[in-house]
Amino acid sequence: DFSNHQNRLVRMEDVSDEYINYIHQTTIEDQWYPSFHIAPPHGLLNDPNGLCQIEGTYHIFYQWFPLGPVHGLKHWRHLTTKDFIHFDDYGCAMYPDDSYDLHGCYSGMVFKEGKQCHVYYTGIDQDDKANVCYGLLKQDKIDKQGVIVSLDKKITSDNFRDPCVFKKQDTYWMLVGGESVNGIGILPVYHGDTFHTFTYQGNLNLQNHNFGYMLECPNYFEQDGKGILFFSPQGIKSSNHYDYQNVFSVTYGIGDPIQNDLNFNAQTYYEMDKGFDFYAPQIFKDESGRYILFGWLGNSKCIYPSDKNNWAHMLTIPREIIVDGDRLVQEPLEELKSLRDEERQIDTCMSLKQAAFELELEVNDYFKIEILESKENYISFEMNEKDYILDRSHMTFMYNEKYGTRRYAKRLIKENQKIRIFVDHSSIEIFADEGKTVFTSRFYLNDIKQMKVVNAKGKYWSLKSIE
Ligand code: FRU
Repeated sequence: DFSNHQNRLVRMEDVSDEYINYIHQTTIEDQWYPSFHIAPPHGLLNDPNGLCQIEGTYHIFYQWFPLGPVHGLKHWRHLTTKDFIHFDDYGCAMYPDDSYDLHGCYSGMVFKEGKQCHVYYTGIDQDDKANVCYGLLKQDKIDKQGVIVSLDKKITSDNFRDPCVFKKQDTYWMLVGGESVNGIGILPVYHGDTFHTFTYQGNLNLQNHNFGYMLECPNYFEQDGKGILFFSPQGIKSSNHYDYQNVFSVTYGIGDPIQNDLNFNAQTYYEMDKGFDFYAPQIFKDESGRYILFGWLGNSKCIYPSDKNNWAHMLTIPREIIVDGDRLVQEPLEELKSLRDEERQIDTCMSLKQAAFELELEVNDYFKIEILESKENYISFEMNEKDYILDRSHMTFMYNEKYGTRRYAKRLIKENQKIRIFVDHSSIEIFADEGKTVFTSRFYLNDIKQMKVVNAKGKYWSLKSIE
């Protein structure tokens, strides 16, 4: 019973194998469990962490509470892959078992230099204080070394987490997510002359943009003379029905590279995703130079119909990120094409044999697609002259309606375009405007039986499972 908060701190070694087997069985037998997304074998997944590629192998970690579909004691679970189709699951890579992270190994990243992989993460200590901790990734294990930056009550409230490290010339830089002492979202900046000796420089100056009370999970990289910054703000007020409709959201800005004056001059910030379920994404550069992003396909403060089966959330599909002017383009990773199985032409009414598929739709002015269980129960996505609309108001299992049942985005491309859609049992990812407008969402129907398509041509592929 996780409504008793003490139970969220129960340790894996203190529960029986029967309990773990039981929650694992209910998880993988769940009709809503995905087949080509990374999802927890039981318990709750949230942020992607520590993404990197080492000698050809991609490493993916995620925030994991093993014992149920709630935010409890956080571990890092670890997977590797070479092709994003076949995965090795190494189980838990980081246990919250040192005094400085006894109440959770929260989010963090891997910074690679030469052959060394430096791990920066958030340790929640036995007094619930958050500190930046350091470790080294060695083969399949993280060798924890302890606290390198302590929470400073003069700089932030108790909300201080999610380090992001990068290097400019000979200096290591670290951005951390935080809430200021007077309740404003900030990104404290640190400089390091070694991997683990960082000193506070001030807060990143975001130039009169106001993002609410807390900024989580900052990411920053530079490319072609630009600085790209994104983070997950909490407490942004929405001023229209297009933007920031979720309880928490993700925003990005592109400006000049950050300099020692700590100014970041992005003019406009855009929401990275327009759907219901996207948060805390992380990016990394792979060995071929691609920027690859995973997000948490989920959202806080939301109870999902599948929670009853003892698991919660998944990661998004991996996406390649390309900078185009002041926008980011998101493209499903090329490798995912190997999941394609049976191919069919899009028809106005198609019966579906499986709930994992991809669509590539050629659309022009108006178009609409419905994914149906029955005439009454379905979700739809439509494009009219001005807008895209994702509509969850006819789902079989309604939940979280207080945050609305529709999501809107303004169309950027008014001519012909290809829209790509990935559906996996209870998730949908829609790439419109050539990847500049993306909707990521969960949805709950009993069964996906049929698809109706108005005014679009194109292709359907059933998709194989990842292994
Ligand atoms: C974002 C977040 C991070 C934190 C982690 C804890 O979803 O709240 O700020 O490090 O999750 O699991």
